[in-house]
Amino acid sequence: MKVYIETYGCQMNEYDSRVMASILTNSGHGMTQDLGTADVVMVNTCSVRDRAEARVLGRLRHLRGLMQKEAVLGIAGCVAQRLGERLLREVPGLSFVVGTEQYWRLPDIIESASAGRIAVAVDAGTGESYDDRPRADEASLCEFVSVMRGCNNYCSYCIVPYVRGRERSRPTSSIVDEVANLVTLGASEVTLIGQNVNSFSDEGRGFADLLGAVAGVEGLRRIRFATSHPKDLSSEVIDAVGSIDKVCEHIHLPVQSGSTEVLEAMNRSYTREEYVTLAQRIREGVPGVALTTDIIVGFPGETDAQFRETVSLMKQIRFDSAFMFHYSVREGTRAAEFTDDVPKDVKIARLQTIIGLQQQVTSEVNAALVGSSAEVLVEEPSQKNKELLFGRSRTGKVVVFPGDAGLAGHIVNVKIASASAWTLHGVNPVLS
Ligand code: SAH
Ligand code: SF4
Ligand code: F3S
Repeated sequence: MKVYIETYGCQMNEYDSRVMASILTNSGHGMTQDLGTADVVMVNTCSVRDRAEARVLGRLRHLRGLMQKEAVLGIAGCVAQRLGERLLREVPGLSFVVGTEQYWRLPDIIESASAGRIAVAVDAGTGESYDDRPRADEASLCEFVSVMRGCNNYCSYCIVPYVRGRERSRPTSSIVDEVANLVTLGASEVTLIGQNVNSFSDEGRGFADLLGAVAGVEGLRRIRFATSHPKDLSSEVIDAVGSIDKVCEHIHLPVQSGSTEVLEAMNRSYTREEYVTLAQRIREGVPGVALTTDIIVGFPGETDAQFRETVSLMKQIRFDSAFMFHYSVREGTRAAEFTDDVPKDVKIARLQTIIGLQQQVTSEVNAALVGSSAEVLVEEPSQKNKELLFGRSRTGKVVVFPGDAGLAGHIVNVKIASASAWTLHGVNPVLS
């Protein structure tokens, strides 16, 4: 059967869609990008904010009308895990629901669904991490590799621990094998992903050891990782980022708020001061590092003064960039029991304020790079202008520059000639 998968949410979901594709192709199915001719249409979903979830449900209802009448429609991922059977009532014509720990069962599920038997597989707690799934048979230049799954942190606003289960790490050997296989197939960069990568643990060896092991893969040029929780980012990891050549100088370190009281209500287990000290240690240990973050405004009880502490923290740290959200109540989380008392318009105004501030800071940080040189892994001609090549610097910034399309896949040094909040413009690429 031909299977079409549409993916929403974080990098883990992108990765899981590939896991599903390899499980399905190994059992004789084929993948397709063409919705109109697919026999099975699946949506891999995200539940992190109310809006993400509502959008996905809308999309599912819409897809039913676009696909072949006899094709089956299914839902996978975090919304599937969260809502399970309830989805059958929400989405008319839905044939199967498969949760985050049940992707192994997809071949059977698809068979049932195609025979007209609705299938729901959302059991959790199996500790599944898909270590033994079939190898990939193709790879992009930049790939994701999951190193751990789940989360035990229970930040009070967050649904992830409920839909992704307890923290568990993959064995180092399985990760290294997967990276080596991807490199053989053409990957040059891997991003090691997990809800909480720095709590990776394999028989007493931690994330810094893992970076060392992955760096040993011959032919691999670059290593990135995400996401780091401030409580787990050890000095060993900072040293590893500073000293292992292949590890890129970029750390995504969600702060969430600049107010210690709000952080406490969020159950983040660090104070503003501890975060600031950690950021300083990272900048000392990894010269030129880019620090990026996630921020939530309008958490229950957030006062104007507490919000201003977030603003002042952003001015103090000067993040290279940030993902910013207003608080969204998630049923079943601890914060759902707090009164969601910041009015919607105040949430939106606060969000606008920090988005404006971050845009200004990012422009300034990028402008300061004009005249310097950047090492870029060249991905492909830019979407907007085919004369320009597109890639990312070691610090994760988008760089475009004029150059020969033959440079795609190579690492070059370019001189930064101008910059905006979104893009660095380079000139004179030289192969490194
Ligand atoms: N540690 C995770 C974070 C996943 S969620 C990881 O693997 O990346 C990504 C971001 O979404 C969080 O850092 C937080 O800023 C935001 N977020 C999570 N729950 C939210 C909620 N209920 N409302 C608004 N933003 C939320
Ligand atoms: Fe959610 Fe917090 Fe876990 Fe990140 S660390 S996934 S924000 S509970
Ligand atoms: Fe969303 Fe699930 Fe990732 S809730 S952010 S897709 S872990």
